Amino acid sequence: MECSTEINRAAAALKNGALVAFPTETVYGLGADATNDEAVARLFAAKGRPRFNPLISHVADAAAAFALGVFSDDAKKLAAFWPGPLTIVVPRAENCPVSLLASAGLSSIALRVPKHPLALALLSAVGRAIVAPSANPSGRVSPTTAEHVKGAMGEKVAIILDGGPCTVGVESTVVSFMQGQATLLRPGGLPRTAIEKVLGHELKTEADSAQPHGPGQLESHYAPRAHLRLDAAAPLNGETYLGFGPHHSGRHTLSARGDVLEAAANLFRMLHELDGLGARDIAIAPIPHEGLGEAINDRLRRAAAPRPQT
Ligand code: TXA
Ligand code: MG
Repeated sequence: MECSTEINRAAAALKNGALVAFPTETVYGLGADATNDEAVARLFAAKGRPRFNPLISHVADAAAAFALGVFSDDAKKLAAFWPGPLTIVVPRAENCPVSLLASAGLSSIALRVPKHPLALALLSAVGRAIVAPSANPSGRVSPTTAEHVKGAMGEKVAIILDGGPCTVGVESTVVSFMQGQATLLRPGGLPRTAIEKVLGHELKTEADSAQPHGPGQLESHYAPRAHLRLDAAAPLNGETYLGFGPHHSGRHTLSARGDVLEAAANLFRMLHELDGLGARDIAIAPIPHEGLGEAINDRLRRAAAPRPQT
């Protein structure tokens, strides 16, 4: 068990935008300040995922979660399982300070209060939401000891808090309230029967809905209202230009210095901003396909694709 100076050191590192691995009851998480776009981008880079999957925001108590998301009565009932291995997906609250990158452009937010004394002490010390995917590189098994984390991610994290082996050992159960009724998105450490007992009815599963979709691909995925043209060296008449790099930057740019990490940090916020300005046609500069560039291009390609008529 770590002492309180170690927790304070970890909290300070998180506030500075560094990555900190910490134990939860399910698996070890790789934490970053959820309100810091660049820290969240760094987290995606460390995970090495080719896509921006939405992340879980971890908070110290239910009250903190209620401030970040809009909870229905049923969603509030499930908060009784906190602290514990349950993640609840709800609409983002207005003025939610969590990075749009952490929601991967969704209008929702995933929230969880983990049940581990070290995690709770850390979250209280930081006093803000911490996003934390499992602390393994993309495609590898989730870590349940500090040694696992050290072996797989050691050089990418500032601090690894050692809280011993995780007691649950599988990830949290994820339940979404985005389609009205509670829907099970991922089975996990909290059995569905326990959840259904509290709700008084069965959980829907993704397969029940007319259009099945993975958690990362919900229909509510943010797409700007504007039409997007990618790989544009310059804007055409009437287009708003979203630049990248010293040669392709103007008034709006994802990163004037051509840094893909900074571009990832700015991506969703800039698209929202241009939407807010009423841009109808957005031309986007070429983004190199390296590092986070792969995930940025994946997201832009999907945002630019023709949308189904609704
Ligand atoms: O037990 C856990 O949940 C661990 C510990 C560290 O808390 N964390 C974890 O995070 O497993 P990760 O990133 O490996 O998995 C997060 C899951 C993914 O299936 C993701 O698609 C889903 O939560 N998720 C996150 N935000 C979501 C959202 N807004 N809508 C739908 N699904 C979401
Ligand atoms: Mg994982």
